[in-house]
Amino acid sequence: MVLVNNNRTYTLRRQGFRLLMLILLFLCQPLLAQEMPAEADPLAFSKAAAVRGKSYYLINCQQCHDADGRALANIDFIAADLTAPDTWYYGTTPLHVFRSIKYGAGLEMPPFKDSLEDETIWQIVAHVFNIGPKENRPTQE
Ligand code: HEC
Repeated sequence: MVLVNNNRTYTLRRQGFRLLMLILLFLCQPLLAQEMPAEADPLAFSKAAAVRGKSYYLINCQQCHDADGRALANIDFIAADLTAPDTWYYGTTPLHVFRSIKYGAGLEMPPFKDSLEDETIWQIVAHVFNIGPKENRPTQE
């Protein structure tokens, strides 16, 4: 009898813990949502932004993805080939690429949220699209 009671208390406590976690997650949602923009910044489609993004890319990204974005020379990481979106895992829209840069991707791709401004990240996004398939390249001035 005592044993059964103990089990019941344990189950109730575990359910309580789950409920608490769910409530916490629910409360944190607006915070997480605030950090992630709802749509792509116009910079992502700008040729001028892509040019500026290239220099930021060379400083922050080439050690893993190579200067040309193809990540062929890298032996430490199997980094994504940024010229081939059909091989990507974490989404191929400008907003997805923004998220991969800002918050990281997989285990090896570091987040840049503490070191790069959103504006800089959007310029890098424009550069990434500019080295990819022709039909996706920025076309606006
Ligand atoms: C320390 C090495 C490293 C650096 C620096 C780095 N990346 Fe990555 N990146 C990776 C690796 C490794 C992956 C693959 C992650 C995976 O698939 O698990 C990746 C994945 C990505 C992806 C997602 C591809 C997909 O599969 O969806 C994008 C986009 C990307 N990187 C862009 C960048 C850009 C732009 C920069 C510079 C701001 C950058 N990375 C800096 C290592 C790096």
